[in-house]
Amino acid sequence: METIEVKGKNGNSTIVIDESFEDVVKYLPPKKELFIITDKNVENLYSDSFPKSPVYSITPGEASKQLMYIEDIYRWLLHNNADRNAFILGIGGGVVCDIAGFVASTYMRGVEFGFVSTSLLSQVDASVGGKNGVDLDGYKNIIGTFNQPRFVLCDTSMLQTLPHEELINGFAEMIKHALISSPSLFERLETDSDKLLSLKHSLLTWHIAESVKVKAKIVSADEREAGIRKLLNFGHTWGHALEKVTGISHGKAVSLGMEFASRISMERRIISSRDYLRIVNLLKSYGLPTCMNINPSIVFNAMTKDKKRTNDSIDFILLEGIGAPVIEKVAISELENLIQPKGKA
Ligand SMILES: NC(=O)c1ccc[n+]([C@@H]2O[C@H](COP(=O)([O-])OP(=O)(O)OC[C@H]3O[C@@H](n4cnc5c(N)ncnc54)[C@H](O)[C@@H]3O)[C@@H](O)[C@H]2O)c1
Repeated sequence: METIEVKGKNGNSTIVIDESFEDVVKYLPPKKELFIITDKNVENLYSDSFPKSPVYSITPGEASKQLMYIEDIYRWLLHNNADRNAFILGIGGGVVCDIAGFVASTYMRGVEFGFVSTSLLSQVDASVGGKNGVDLDGYKNIIGTFNQPRFVLCDTSMLQTLPHEELINGFAEMIKHALISSPSLFERLETDSDKLLSLKHSLLTWHIAESVKVKAKIVSADEREAGIRKLLNFGHTWGHALEKVTGISHGKAVSLGMEFASRISMERRIISSRDYLRIVNLLKSYGLPTCMNINPSIVFNAMTKDKKRTNDSIDFILLEGIGAPVIEKVAISELENLIQPKGKA
């Protein structure tokens, strides 16, 4: 078991890796009244081990993360006489954690909360860092708060029930964390891919902890994304646009976005073609896509519409090497050149 601290303006968050879900009661503050938010899949699998409390179960998936559905959760809390002494525990993946964190941060101007993080993506990414957001009119995470959960419990054995497609979404973010921080972690991901994909417990736990440390360090230095936290958006500029126009999963979109940002870096000769190929091969070894059969102009148009443009350029996170990210302005004309000749998305 390992604990990692995230420092926040209004309090710290303790992330506990490889703790048994059944021991969550140890982390609940005494004398608080517990309310659980989960989703139907997680409830069906794990409700027997839930601590005793009222439970609100959402329909699984991103569609539930909309502001209009949040009202119903506030009403449920009111009907159950939740007051400022309430403690909200989100048990689920990133969708549940985002919703639980947002509801807890806004109900009665804020009550305490914690997470049992049950998907790989939420263990290494969504539940780390104190961003709690919901969607509105197709804009992801447009309404939200910065507020740290008191604790995040990651029981890696719960990943055994996670569908494979969801698992690889998490690996995409783990690869991103290595690419923006550490050549040695990248190398370990290269070496360990087969064992990680078969969920070898000790190795998976080690990698999750290392990945959380990367994000925890960045967030502790820049909780509000004024500077260094932007590096966590590596692969997301192109990735978000792809996700929007194609509806592919976030992890796959980020994988394609990382390939794209690495390709720009290679074209600018700030990374070698060898490093570019290592990145592409690593993504492939985790079952992640590196090219897609779609007209790149459609993605390009969505991206340029979505992003704030200054002087006809877009801020991209590029790589000056594996583990060495840099924020650079990329001219629209450079992007147009890049997408035209090879016809790759
Ligand atoms: N707040 C942040 O900083 C942050 C960062 C990254 C992503 N996010 C958000 O996270 C969300 C994506 O998270 P996600 O990928 O975990 O999606 P998710 O919460 O929808 O979970 C994916 C699927 O896996 C199921 N599931 C979860 N745990 C399971 C388990 N142990 N066994 C079986 N099934 C399980 C869920 O029911 C769901 O069907 C997005 O909404 C994204 O915006 C937030």
